[in-house]
Amino acid sequence: MDPRLNPYAPGAGSPPPELAGRDDLIERAAIALDRIRAGRPARSLILYGLRGVGKTVLLNRIRLDAEARGIASVRIEAPEERSLPALLAPALRATLLRLGRGAVAKAGVGKAMRALASFVRALKVKYEDIELSLDLEPEPGLADSGDLDTDLTELLASIGSAAAERETAVVLYLDELQYVPEDQLAALIVALHSASQDQLPVTMVAAGLPQLVGQTGRAKSYAERLFEFVPIDRLDEEAAKAALTVPARKAGVDYATEAVAEILAQTLGYPYFLQEWGKQSWNVADASPIDVEDARRGSVQALAELDASFFRVRFDRLTPAEKRYMRAMAELGPGPHRSGDIADVLGRKVTTVAPLRNALIAKGMAYSPAHGDTAFTVPLFDGFMKRIMLLQ
Ligand SMILES: Nc1ncnc2c1ncn2[C@@H]1O[C@H](COP(=O)(O)OP(=O)(O)O)[C@@H](O)[C@H]1O
Ligand SMILES: [Mg+2]
Repeated sequence: MDPRLNPYAPGAGSPPPELAGRDDLIERAAIALDRIRAGRPARSLILYGLRGVGKTVLLNRIRLDAEARGIASVRIEAPEERSLPALLAPALRATLLRLGRGAVAKAGVGKAMRALASFVRALKVKYEDIELSLDLEPEPGLADSGDLDTDLTELLASIGSAAAERETAVVLYLDELQYVPEDQLAALIVALHSASQDQLPVTMVAAGLPQLVGQTGRAKSYAERLFEFVPIDRLDEEAAKAALTVPARKAGVDYATEAVAEILAQTLGYPYFLQEWGKQSWNVADASPIDVEDARRGSVQALAELDASFFRVRFDRLTPAEKRYMRAMAELGPGPHRSGDIADVLGRKVTTVAPLRNALIAKGMAYSPAHGDTAFTVPLFDGFMKRIMLLQ
């Protein structure tokens, strides 16, 4: 069928034509943010799960809905190897500029800007990647100690006050939170906790890989009072069917029952894969309904597409030794696997391959669902590793 009319949207962060199975969560997030704006206690959300389950699109949806209700956003995606202050400073500046717009100038926004100027000036020494410079007079004694915990606490407090004055809330949307170094993550949580104790309308909605849960563990007593940790997983059968069939139906195209069953079996209900399978099955089909033969031919195309993109970009980030480790994991199946078993496949000692495992976790390629276990952060990655490389 005409690829120009193809409704599916495989791709990192691409909004799906039908955001299936997440209504409940979207509503919970909206309630929490509205309560926080009103100065009422509520726990914001931290979304965690594997690659391709739909964390980013959910985070974006929560943000867009909140913006439509007048809640201010700070958008941050944590890349590897950037400091949190360097990420926060320009994003907070943009938010404060937007917050400061409007007829009546308010004192709070100006003070928050000066706090940001102090923050940047004081932390530039330690976090050399801060690129922002503000030609503003910093406020002496405010957020200028040079200690991240203290300064971030004071900065977020002044931003919270500015938001309260504007009768709104400021929400930090932090994607890929697992890449924020642990000490900086702890400082952020401490600062958010302090703001919440003062009933200031500033909070964070975050998303990241499963290792996030362990990483926040150190600031845990705080984190658990502030955030609800929500696992984001593959879609259940009903939602997976909706994700696949609703976009086609809107374009007047149906699926044969067996075609749906075939695609659900192949994708295991993972959102990214549903988009890819839907896209390819549409393209190979001659006409509605998309039948099981189309679905099978679509599968071949979809896997080839994933191998060349979704899986491939992750594979290319690995060193040769890391590739061998991942290949050994794949040999054992989808996982999780015991570290000892992986080492056995490699014919090495657990202790000698431990640094590889740590590096893979730091890169976000693997995580540890339980002590001594290792699993892929990308669904179906075991099959890909077997297709692309031989066991060495
Ligand atoms: N609830 C959903 N229903 C249908 N498709 C979805 C859903 N959530 C995500 N997707 C699709 O899955 C893909 C991956 O989404 P993304 O948010 O980038 O995942 P993650 O951030 O967890 O890696 C995108 O193509 C997106 O359109
Ligand atoms: Mg994402």
